Amino acid sequence: MNILGIETSCDETAAAVVRDGREVLSNVVYTQIPLHQPYGGVVPEIASRAHVEKISKVVNTAIAKFRETAPGGRIDEVAVTYGPGLSPALIVGLNAAKGIAMSLGVPLVAINHIEAHLHTPFLRDAGDPAPAALAPESAMPAVGLAISGGHTVWFDMPEYGVYRTLGQTLDDAAGEAFDKAAKLLGLGYPGGPKIDRIAKKALGASELIPFPKGHPREGVSALAGLPADLCVSFSGLKTALLRHVQQHPELLSPPADAPTLEYAEGQSVTREVARVVASYQEAIVQAVADRTRRVLGRRKCRSLILGGGVSLNSRLRDVLSDVAARAGVELLMARPKYCGDNGAMIAGLAYYRRNITGEDAMRIDVAPSLEVG
Ligand code: KG4
Ligand code: ZN
Repeated sequence: MNILGIETSCDETAAAVVRDGREVLSNVVYTQIPLHQPYGGVVPEIASRAHVEKISKVVNTAIAKFRETAPGGRIDEVAVTYGPGLSPALIVGLNAAKGIAMSLGVPLVAINHIEAHLHTPFLRDAGDPAPAALAPESAMPAVGLAISGGHTVWFDMPEYGVYRTLGQTLDDAAGEAFDKAAKLLGLGYPGGPKIDRIAKKALGASELIPFPKGHPREGVSALAGLPADLCVSFSGLKTALLRHVQQHPELLSPPADAPTLEYAEGQSVTREVARVVASYQEAIVQAVADRTRRVLGRRKCRSLILGGGVSLNSRLRDVLSDVAARAGVELLMARPKYCGDNGAMIAGLAYYRRNITGEDAMRIDVAPSLEVG
């Protein structure tokens, strides 16, 4: 079965065609990052407008590439993200998907963006000779960690398509924590990839600053019944960084002779900024690793499934590989190109997750605060 997946929940206009939930036949992502960069974050109205401008081209290109990869193939269904995400952005994809499903005369499936991120390790490119990862059914029971710009949540997945929240962030998501720090340090948007690169250069070079490791206070109402030791809170870390920057004004206005470190071609920061960045990243990575270790210690499971933009972080990938190996579970991570937002994860999950289809999907509205489950 060939499913066309459409994704417009944030700042990527994306469409893909996936065969039988796993084999990616085409995948087109138009990123709006340059449009939002001057504002230091995603501006919903700009995102919506850019989705409107690009959606037809992106979908048509995905269909054309699918026809090249699978001559004579037909689209059997259309799948689309209906939440969570930015309302004006989601509306564009949902309306386009309803129209395309109607014009092709095929059913529509409405998909949860966060659940879809957890499907990414199961995607593979058509014709890729690399051995296929476990099938979703064989990876169960699993613990899922969705870690992105909007979410940081640990799920119990006793079987594929069943998600029970075990722990989560009580405030900022990990990606948001990366992005806010980068903004404060004048590194630009999005912050995660830059912080990753800078920290990689700086790691081991100097002593790390002991930033707080995201422990929430016991009994706070935001826990909403979840155990505090399986949750994270990044607001204290953010405040600690702000205080550190205020106490060290030379970080933002360095002396001319401050030693620097080049982290990408033509891009450099002072060594002291690099040390702050590496320390901040390490605090987030260790907070996430610590809760993951605990979750795995309490659950008998076969695999740890990682999904979301922050799962691209090289330090997080290394540390979680070690955590999973020690717990005796297999770590399933997506290829880098499927970590960020894309249509393949929507089309892929739609093959397995059949809860909102047909007339229900045609009538559905966007759900910006949609929860998993
Ligand atoms: O999944 P995603 O593309 O969009 C959401 O659903 O939120 O995730 C975007 C987030 C951004 O916050 C971005 O800074 C972060 O993922 N990110 C990273 C890295 N690459 C992207 N964070 C840390 N290290 C990275 N290498
Ligand atoms: Zn996402």
